[in-house]
Amino acid sequence: MEPDDPTWPPRPTALAHWLASRSLVAGDTAVDATCGNGHDTLMLARLVGPSGSVTAIDIQPAALDMTRNALAAAAMDDGRVRLVNDCHSRLGASVAPESAAWIMFNLGYLPGGDRAITSRAVTTCRALDAAVAALRPGGRLAVTSYPGHAEGALEARAVEDWMSTAAAGGMRVAQYLQPFTRKPAPVLWLAAKPSPPMKHRP
Ligand SMILES: C[S@@+](CC[C@H](N)C(=O)[O-])C[C@H]1O[C@@H](n2cnc3c(N)ncnc32)[C@H](O)[C@@H]1O
Repeated sequence: MEPDDPTWPPRPTALAHWLASRSLVAGDTAVDATCGNGHDTLMLARLVGPSGSVTAIDIQPAALDMTRNALAAAAMDDGRVRLVNDCHSRLGASVAPESAAWIMFNLGYLPGGDRAITSRAVTTCRALDAAVAALRPGGRLAVTSYPGHAEGALEARAVEDWMSTAAAGGMRVAQYLQPFTRKPAPVLWLAAKPSPPMKHRP
């Protein structure tokens, strides 16, 4: 153990990667609903392998270019990742119902890009509804929100409300955050889509 290890406690994004690695197996279907610079997509592409598939969505063509380049640099431009330039609220147009084992949202703006192009409460909540429809029973959802900027604070409250409704509707929900920080820290939400109850034989 390193003294003063800066990776401990883990940041939400690092924890989301670790949890994905414990959730996905080769051949699975996964979705990155905000592919940005491609780090999350790359991680998912590695985990599902050449027999799996990842749909990577972003509203900015520049983000898709970054992700395309990252995949090529890692020699994973073999068709396992489909890049979709769209708003994630339309996720249902590119991902089949009940097909995905893992869907992740790393909300906010593109690091190094235009901060005015950021995810927003209304479309994020629509996208989360679409994500639940696209998850297979038992599939997992990971959402990192960033309340440290003005739009992100509004969005974080909307995500919390959405999670509360999801929990009341039967999804198992958990939250991870670093408390006692100077400005509000990113929050990782985790949820699982319930499997239908087993039918009893007469
Ligand atoms: C924090 S970045 C994502 C980081 C990325 N997952 C990575 O690994 O580099 C947030 C991304 O969300 C995208 N975004 C914002 N609003 C969106 C929307 N309505 N639909 C899809 N993507 C959106 C932004 O363009 C930006 O690239």
